[in-house]
Amino acid sequence: MAVERTLSILKPDATERNLTGQINARFEAAGLRIVAQKRLQLTDAQAGLFYQEHSARPFYKDLCGFMSSGPIVAQVLEGENAILANRDIMGATNPANAAAGTIRKDFAVSIDANSVHGSDSPAAAAREISFFFSTLELVG
Ligand code: CMP
Repeated sequence: MAVERTLSILKPDATERNLTGQINARFEAAGLRIVAQKRLQLTDAQAGLFYQEHSARPFYKDLCGFMSSGPIVAQVLEGENAILANRDIMGATNPANAAAGTIRKDFAVSIDANSVHGSDSPAAAAREISFFFSTLELVG
């Protein structure tokens, strides 16, 4: 198994409900290390850039509107197979389909307000980490 890094976002519905500590505790309990973290609010244009791969999808406008509607916490998680491990911890994108014990099952409100984002591949992780963080900000 390889040690990987993945980009995680605690979305505006999570910061609004003061859930950042509870969600971070789940990552740490599962063996993932938070090696970088910052709280910020994206503009609609910045959210559009981050999610540009979805720009042709019908949900893109609402997604960008939601992701810029309040503070987010962007973070880098590090650990064995971190990309897939984080996707297991998060659960399915649509909370209606998320397995018991996952973050989205326990905290998500809807498919847009689904509390967390995680990179879905090594290429996406590299792009998404560099979107938010410089090399100097990654402290393992
Ligand atoms: P996320 O993992 O951040 O990646 C893109 C986001 O788009 C996704 O989580 C959802 O919050 C949102 N979204 C809204 N509708 C859909 C959909 N039909 N399929 C996938 N993602 C959707």
